Amino acid sequence: MAAATDFIPGARALARCDVMGVPPYSEVEGQLVRRFLTPAHRAAIDTLRGWMIEAGMSVRIDAAANLIGRYEGATPHAPTLMVGSHIDTVRNGGRYDGALGVMLGVDLVETLNVAERRRPFAIEVIAFGDEEGSRFPASMTCSRAVAGTLDPAVLATHDADGVSLAEAFAAFGLPTNDLAQAARAPSDVIAFLEAHIEQGPVLEAADLGLGVVIAIAAQKRLMVKITGAAGHAGTTPMGLRRDPGPAAAEAILAVERICAGGQDGLVGTVGRIAALPGAFNVIPGAIEFSLDIRAATSAARDAAVVAITSEIEAIVARRGLDVAIERMQDLAESPCDPALTDQLAAAVAACGVTPRRLQSGAGHDAMIMAELCPTAMLFLRCKGGVSHNPAESVREDDCILAARAMLAFIDALDLSPTA
Ligand code: GLV
Ligand code: MN
Ligand code: MN
Repeated sequence: MAAATDFIPGARALARCDVMGVPPYSEVEGQLVRRFLTPAHRAAIDTLRGWMIEAGMSVRIDAAANLIGRYEGATPHAPTLMVGSHIDTVRNGGRYDGALGVMLGVDLVETLNVAERRRPFAIEVIAFGDEEGSRFPASMTCSRAVAGTLDPAVLATHDADGVSLAEAFAAFGLPTNDLAQAARAPSDVIAFLEAHIEQGPVLEAADLGLGVVIAIAAQKRLMVKITGAAGHAGTTPMGLRRDPGPAAAEAILAVERICAGGQDGLVGTVGRIAALPGAFNVIPGAIEFSLDIRAATSAARDAAVVAITSEIEAIVARRGLDVAIERMQDLAESPCDPALTDQLAAAVAACGVTPRRLQSGAGHDAMIMAELCPTAMLFLRCKGGVSHNPAESVREDDCILAARAMLAFIDALDLSPTA
């Protein structure tokens, strides 16, 4: 264990994210790719488990592949404050999205342990294995399991290599019939605290190192498949083609136009696109693309989804093509708990930072955990608001501030039932 004098809470959390930015914690040399239930995920769990033990926690992996370190309260079996975030990444992602919240949780517990202090509640640091959905189509599998809202149908979904989620769990050593055991009883969990980089430019523009989240935007994920007829690229005259490619191009422009004209933080993204079968000399038989639509409210998001869907259907009909639109995920907007948010704002203010309150356009495990318990979210400034990009960057002094704010929050945490 590092000597107490070497341990600067927050600074060490940042350094540990950097340690985990390369293989074996990444699937790919020269990039950070750490997807759910891969060897890179296993490597992260193994190292993090050691760090949790050094910090004074007892550690287990639950049935959904979440790593959980527990630091007991002043009395045994005390109710639990859960603190954490996710350790999976997008492809070629940054080092801090998710991982920083987990490492800050470990620093928080180690700070208490070094001081031989315990709170009236237990603290569990949780490293969710899947938040991004970068391997399987749906995201937040692990927090859903903990909140008890996981639809077992996700077990039948497949990754790009045709491996089902059920098979991936089994290969990881976790029998899928035990998945429900990851669910926590609401009576046992008093709250969930998640620290996370902002992933947007608001705090940097306001020259603030920290912020307090009031709500997380609603999001919907759809897969669109436009089908025509595959054919020879050299012999099929333009007028005789049923090419889904130009239809997909029109559809993507419609997404941009409809979302740009929307309100309530409406945004739409086509992040994945595939022409099938995918060859220079073949007119594609089908184009598949993903659609991610978000807004501050489900109503604004759903209005956009309806407009986009009917526009795509009109484009496809005009071109004599077919379309299938499959809903992959539907997450309502999630307000953070007002009382806890006030307490977190007070903790931020106690660290000398004006507690700016802001919305989160990014999704977070906290929006799922809100179905289990009250939630609070602390944001850290990130450089240029850049995220889901290897250029993601966080300042060390902001991480130190975050560690102090989290400690102030748990020191003052009001355990009354409304807290
Ligand atoms: C996760 O980062 C998301 O917002 O999709
Ligand atoms: Mn992310
Ligand atoms: Mn994240």
